[in-house]
This record gives sequence, structure tokens and C-alpha cells, in this order.
Amino acid sequence: MSFAKLTPEEAAALVANGDIIGFSGFTPAGAAKAVPRAIAARAKAEHAAGRPFKIGVITGASTGPSLDGELAKADAVLFRTPYQSNADLRKKINAGEVQFFDMHLSQLPQTVRYGFLGKVKFAIVEACEVYPGGEIVLTTSVGASPTFCHVADKIIIELNRAQSPQLLGFHDIYEPVDPPRRREIPLYSVRDRIGTTVVKVDPSRIAGIVETNQADESGVFEEPSEVMLRIGQNVAAFLAGERRRGTIPAPFLPIQSGVGDIANAVLAAMGENDDIPPFEMYSEVLQDAVFKLMQKGKLTFASTTAITASPTMTKEFYANLDFYRSRVVLRPQEISNNPEIVRRLGIISINAAIEADIFGNINSTHVLGTSMMNGIGGSGDFTRNAFISIFVCPALQKGGKISTIVPLVSHTDHSEHSVQVIITDQGIADLRGKSPQERAKLIAENCAHPDFREALRHYVELSKSGQTPQSLRNAFAFHTHFMETGDMRGVKLG
Ligand code: COA
Repeated sequence: MSFAKLTPEEAAALVANGDIIGFSGFTPAGAAKAVPRAIAARAKAEHAAGRPFKIGVITGASTGPSLDGELAKADAVLFRTPYQSNADLRKKINAGEVQFFDMHLSQLPQTVRYGFLGKVKFAIVEACEVYPGGEIVLTTSVGASPTFCHVADKIIIELNRAQSPQLLGFHDIYEPVDPPRRREIPLYSVRDRIGTTVVKVDPSRIAGIVETNQADESGVFEEPSEVMLRIGQNVAAFLAGERRRGTIPAPFLPIQSGVGDIANAVLAAMGENDDIPPFEMYSEVLQDAVFKLMQKGKLTFASTTAITASPTMTKEFYANLDFYRSRVVLRPQEISNNPEIVRRLGIISINAAIEADIFGNINSTHVLGTSMMNGIGGSGDFTRNAFISIFVCPALQKGGKISTIVPLVSHTDHSEHSVQVIITDQGIADLRGKSPQERAKLIAENCAHPDFREALRHYVELSKSGQTPQSLRNAFAFHTHFMETGDMRGVKLG
């Protein structure tokens, strides 16, 4: 079957006010670019003509500026889920102008299939090839695209010539059967392939193809700061120590590593540590450090749902596709982040926190308990089920005015029951087998910056009784002092 060729504007004209759309994209990798830009332009024109125009935006995770940025600037977003990291969209969310609901990424595809989010009208997905029989070859991410393609009324494809058709073979597309007939996911090692290399749809559901030629809008990674290097070295030293004492098996266990500069620095530090053997990753994103580790032979295989490399590293990836073909697999996010698999494979999770409290609760998402940063992403999928769950953060933020170690987190994403190890540039708090009283001492002494240790010690002394030494009067004293003075230093407890 031959497909209708559409311009981005013709594709955008098919979309109606109020439609729910599933866009490809997990990070800027593989995100739809041309059609969302055209939808944003259409929204602006409709608004100028006095007509309402907003769409429900569902994706794999965050996307690039052409999708989240343009749609937010055009006031075209009715609701947004499951994750974002775009400054323009974040502003609208925190101003209450966009309804954002923050979801565990592994659950997004099944939530869409179950119909909890409403009917998906269009799947708008980026591909590097489409065959007449309806076989779609995705690009640098899989995310939730297979599900969007299967549930949407119609599919619009952005055929991106900047993405090589030689990506065919990197993907492993598998969708679980829904309850009550779901069985185990038959994936027993990081390298297993359990699905197909293409997303197969009825070709009559493809509304048209928009040809594009634009690279992923991924950013560059910063050179790691001193603080990041120390965090990375502490993580590597902790893992090497666990292997020496035999809690991590000698051949090692698969690593999951979060997004951002800290995660990149942690992986780089693991690469430098000679007591960590060559290892595998089972993660949701592969950033630059991963490819460098692979070139060095320190990383032998990586399973992911997205390749989120800098433009330079993306070029390197494309120039060496044959090298990476036997070392990288791209899976749907419902498999890359699947709790069943995470627990089965014994994955060690390493994610970054906004703040941690002295009892081991983690805030991954909200600044001062109110403003959304990005979202929980996959951190809950991995943390809750990991062999060892680790959170990392610098002990200080904003030039020393903020302690990331606080008496009580201002928002809880991961509870004390799921968090096993907290690591900052100051040191390591291994919380396994520790009571709240013991945790409080360990985290305050090992992880907090010296500027805040005395106040944290004082906090614990204020409450001498109870299983958890909490002082409700002072629980948010660090935060309220910051809101009043712009600095957590000098906080008074009493
Ligand atoms: N108070 C105020 N601001 C804080 C803060 C705190 N306690 N902690 C972090 N921030 C700010 C930083 O100052 C920085 O702001 P800037 O962009 O204005 O410089 C921003 O948050 C990012 O922090 P940074 O230290 O640069 O680390 P990062 O880029 O690694 O991001 C998270 C850290 C927590 C925001 C990020 O990892 C995240 O969104 N995590 C949740 C999702 C997740 O874990 N995904 C991975 C699962 S696979």
C-alpha cells in the first residue's frame, strides 16, 4: 500500500480541538518534531481567530523544544503526562495553566491501553522507515510508541531522513497481554530479545507520512564539576566495596542510571574504578558516558528505551552502527522499566534526588514542595524493585543556600521503605537494616554538608521518643527559613 504524503501543516489540520494525541519521544530522542510545531502554529492561528484549540499530550517521557516547548508557548496543551523537562512547559505547569500528571513511566503504556486517559485520536510517531505492509521502524527511542500506534484511531508518521534506516534491528518491540490474561514477560537476561524489530500496524490506519530531516534536539553534557566527580567516586567505591564483600556477585549486576549530568558523571566514575568489572546496563536512557564505556570495553551491553546522546556522540553512534548493533537493544518503556524484570535481573538503580530527608525519604520532583521540576520518570519503577536502590545528589544546591539533606522532605516520591543507600559528595549512608533513629544519624553525619550537620543533629534531639524522631513543629523549618530569607543557613529550631 502506498501512503498519502502530507506536509506538516496538512497533518496538523487533521487534528481537532480537544483531541488526545500520543506522540513519539522519550527525551528528545525519537520525538516527533515537525507535526507538533505545525500544531502549535495552528493553535496560535485558532486562538487569534477567537477559537479554542488545545490538545491532550501524551508521550513516552520528556521530549524536545519542538514538541513540549512549541506547544506550551502556543497555549495548546490541555493536559500533559507522563514526564517533561522543558522550561517553557514547566513554567505553564507551575502557573497552573497546564494540567500535568506525573506518572511512573513503566505504567504509561498500560494506562493508555486500559483507557484510563481517554481515547487516543492520533499517534504521531517518528520513523526511519515504513514498509507498505504497515511495518514501522522507529528511530532513537521506542518509549510508548508501539502502544500509541496500536490504540490510536489513526497514525501519522514523521519519516525522518536524518535518522538512518539502518536502525532496523536495534529495536525489540513487545507488548504484554493485558489482565486477566497477562503472563510473565519472558526476558531472563539483559541481552534477551523477545519481540519484533518493527511496530506492525494495519496500513489502512496510517493517515499519512510527513517527510522530515532533522536531528534529535538533545543537549550537551557538562564537564563534571568537582562535586559531581566526588559523588561518582563515592558511588563507584560503594559498589566496588559491595562486590568485595560478596553482596554483589563477582560478575556484577546490571546498572540502571538516571538522566542528567550527575548520572553521566557517576557512570564515568564507575568506568575509572578498576575494582568494578566490565558490566551491563538495563536502563531507560543511554547518555554519552555509556558509549564511552562501551568503546573502552567496560560496558559490554546496554538495554534501553532511548539513546539520549549529545549531537557529537549521536554522530559517533551513527558512524559505528555495526559496533553498537550487537551491544545495544531498544525496548518499549513498559519493558525497559518493568518492575518484574527489574527485580528478576537484580538491577542496581542509581537516580538523582532533589532532596532527601534524614529518614531516607526522597523528593525527586518538587522544589519547596510545590514547584514541579521534571517528574518522577522511571525512578520509582527501578527504585522500588532494585537489588540495591541508590539515590545521589550534591549535599548543597544554589551556591550553598540549600541543603539537600533536610529533616523531612517537602514532597515524597520514594519512601524510606524503598530507599537503601544515599550518596552525596560528602559521603555514603547505607540504610539497609537500619532503624529511623540510626538512619537519621547516618544521613546527617555522612551525607549532609558540615554547614547543616549541627541543625540536623539538633532536630533529632528535639524528639527523644517514638519510632521516628520527628518534630512536627520543626519538620519544615529548613524550607520555611529559606522561603523567608532566601537561605537555609541560620535556620532556628525550637
Ligand atoms: N532545591 C532547589 N533546587 C534544586 C534542588 C533543591 N533541593 N535540587 C536540585 N535543584 C535544581 C538545581 O539547582 C538545578 O537547577 P538549575 O537547572 O536552575 O541549575 C536543577 O534542579 C537540576 O539539578 P542538578 O543538580 O543540575 O541535577 P540533575 O540535572 O541531575 O537533575 C533531578 C536532578 C532530580 C532534577 C533529575 O535527576 C530528575 O528530574 N529526576 C527525576 C526523574 C528521574 O529520576 N529520572 C530517572 C529515572 S531513570
